[in-house]
Amino acid sequence: MSSMMRRPTPHRFSPYRFAGGKTAKNRVVVPPMCSQTADARGNAAAATIAHYARLAESGAGTIFVEYSFVHPSGKGEDHQLAADSDANVEGLANVAGVIQRAGALAGQQLVHVGGKTTRAMIGGDPMSPSGVRVPVKGWEPDAPVAMSLADVRAWVRWFTEAALRARAAGFDLVELHAAHGYGLNQWLSPLTNNRTDAYGGDMAARGRLLFEIVESIRAAAPELLLAVRLPGQDHMEGGLTAADMRWVVHRLEGLGMDLIDVSSGIGGWRRPEGRTGEGYLVDDAAALKSSTTLPVIGVGGIETGAYIDRILAEGRVDFAAVGRAVLKDPSAWGQRQLNVRVRHEVM
Ligand SMILES: Cc1cc2nc3c(=O)[nH]c(=O)nc-3n(C[C@H](O)[C@H](O)[C@H](O)COP(=O)(O)O)c2cc1C
Repeated sequence: MSSMMRRPTPHRFSPYRFAGGKTAKNRVVVPPMCSQTADARGNAAAATIAHYARLAESGAGTIFVEYSFVHPSGKGEDHQLAADSDANVEGLANVAGVIQRAGALAGQQLVHVGGKTTRAMIGGDPMSPSGVRVPVKGWEPDAPVAMSLADVRAWVRWFTEAALRARAAGFDLVELHAAHGYGLNQWLSPLTNNRTDAYGGDMAARGRLLFEIVESIRAAAPELLLAVRLPGQDHMEGGLTAADMRWVVHRLEGLGMDLIDVSSGIGGWRRPEGRTGEGYLVDDAAALKSSTTLPVIGVGGIETGAYIDRILAEGRVDFAAVGRAVLKDPSAWGQRQLNVRVRHEVM
């Protein structure tokens, strides 16, 4: 390529145009963060809408709505948002609306927590690939029951129906949550999947359910931007490795995925021991970015525009997710790091 044709170095303010034409106005993403503001049935409440209007004051170009369960058996905590019923769509549309009116793309993260829950939370036995109790720091999930093939098919249906609800609610993006030890992470990981059928064994088999869900959503909603939150690795002995995840991303690229969001796995999203400074999971994101043409989001303790500019310029990520630093005070963060001007709205 001649120097005349070289692309300009991306920075935090560079827009990003996705396949299909939707454009994120900048490279800052607010990652999904559970607000526990939904009502008892999982519908967005006034507090949920206010919460996302506040996050949108950050000026981030893309804002993900927290993990929303695709079926009551996949619920992880009280007052979690739901995406399991058409009754959820009206509230979700209000949430997507406040994000989009601030000029950001709105994403919804979908989850089935699998075995990372309790009987008390879901009113029955948690389900998981092999009935292996999910290792969790700080609390113990109840022992799960191994899923039948009929359960596997139900997951494909539940995720697909939930994605269609997100589309009906007007979201620009849907993100499948396959990280942090939740359901789809349990399928990918050799720590929690020791099945001997077509859905267990090598990486191709352990990834099969995720790939089937992606294919199903792609067929049902070809125009929906589809992201997946993946572990860069499990960050737990005997778990998913960076090489495993390179293989998974390669397969997903072939299935028409639009965006890869790289966090951690069974070990959870917090800072792994020995990693210091901003961007504690960015090395994992960069390792995957070097082997794919798909855009990649990096995350973990990112706080400053200067750091974001650096990792974008170095080509280590395409987007930087800023969670807790934004959550603390979205508008102050936006003013400081994205030059967002204070707006005094006339009501
Ligand atoms: C209050 C809170 C809730 C979270 N909920 C989710 C969630 O629903 N889905 C998810 O994938 N990650 C969730 N996370 C993890 C964040 O998306 C992010 O990966 C993590 O906070 C690290 O980024 P940060 O250091 O910029 O905060 C949550 C984090 C926090 C602090």
